[in-house]
Amino acid sequence: MTALTLSSAGRKTLYRWQRAPLEDSLRALIPQWGDQPLSIISEDLDSNASFVNYVRHHRIIDPITGKTLECVEKSIRKLAFVGSQEARFHRAEGMLEGSAHFHHPTCLGVIETPWESLIFTAFVRGKPPRMHAIARQLAQGIAEQEQLSHDYLVAQPMQQAPLLWSMDFYRPWFLLRPRFNFERHLSHLEALGREDVCFAGLAQRLKSFTPMLRGMAKQARQSPRCISHMDYLRKNLFVVKNQLHVIDWSEAKVGRVGFDGGAYLGSLFRRKDMKVFIAAQAEFIETYRAVLSSKFDCDEALRNLHYIFLLTALYHSLRPETLAEYRERERMPLLLQKYEYLLTLL
Ligand SMILES: Nc1ncnc2c1ncn2[C@@H]1O[C@H](COP(=O)(O)OP(=O)(O)OP(=O)(O)O)[C@@H](O)[C@H]1O
Ligand SMILES: [Mg+2]
Repeated sequence: MTALTLSSAGRKTLYRWQRAPLEDSLRALIPQWGDQPLSIISEDLDSNASFVNYVRHHRIIDPITGKTLECVEKSIRKLAFVGSQEARFHRAEGMLEGSAHFHHPTCLGVIETPWESLIFTAFVRGKPPRMHAIARQLAQGIAEQEQLSHDYLVAQPMQQAPLLWSMDFYRPWFLLRPRFNFERHLSHLEALGREDVCFAGLAQRLKSFTPMLRGMAKQARQSPRCISHMDYLRKNLFVVKNQLHVIDWSEAKVGRVGFDGGAYLGSLFRRKDMKVFIAAQAEFIETYRAVLSSKFDCDEALRNLHYIFLLTALYHSLRPETLAEYRERERMPLLLQKYEYLLTLL
């Protein structure tokens, strides 16, 4: 794999003082189009993330070849002129070069203004996967991604250090986010315990995860770095001819080996019943163990996986929205089962 220098990686990022019309942006990214007239049909795509202004699908007739080019434009608001995590990921171009298990739509380029990042990528047409059914495929993709990105990170020149430092999982602007702090939601479970005796005392017992997670975080911090996507949801994956295409790097961080497995299993735990979760977890871990690069210590990676799994699973199962949803659907016994499962991991 070729490690890119800042200057070549920077070629795909253009800086502008203000936002230009779409046509101008496209011409800047594809200069060979010159002044030829462009025919564009645009359509908004669903998007929920905070800071995302819009995600748009554009169908453009290439004025040179006459062929249709389909791309996606994602506009992300900046906070105090600070660029988005996703734009930074795309700046680290070449990080996942050579990946065989995961496929990534080509990034046509990123346009940065002081107020937003515009990310242009190729449009992928495919089906969303059944998340529990792709445990083995994900384990292979994640293990490969961890190895490729680890190699890339260690080969980076000093100029890249500030960018990569700012993307590190351990920066306070990530760690302070609610999704990594389940404790703040324990009061809702305490209240539930006062109403329903089956839930009594659970919040107190779950509190014991706090010191345990602190220890795991400290240990993980010293382990090998790699890129971690952190958002393995149905809507961020496409199956095209049995191959997995991955999009949406808005949660990506410079994480540690094992983190992505934990993120996947955490979101599976949130959405599935225990039987489906346990079976997919076993498949994922079995494959991950088998394919993880020998550069990494497998026990260390699995400890890290466990750390992110617990952070994610605790947060999601304690959010007031989750309690309300299970109550509404009359699925409180399943929620109780999930708390009991988590407590076995203490
Ligand atoms: N390259 C692409 N090809 C096909 N569809 C895409 C592509 N990029 C985005 N989409 C569609 O647009 C949706 C939103 O894009 P994306 O996930 O990047 O934004 P988001 O704001 O993080 O959304 P969310 O929070 O809903 O995940 C995706 O779920 C997908 O359906
Ligand atoms: Mg998404």
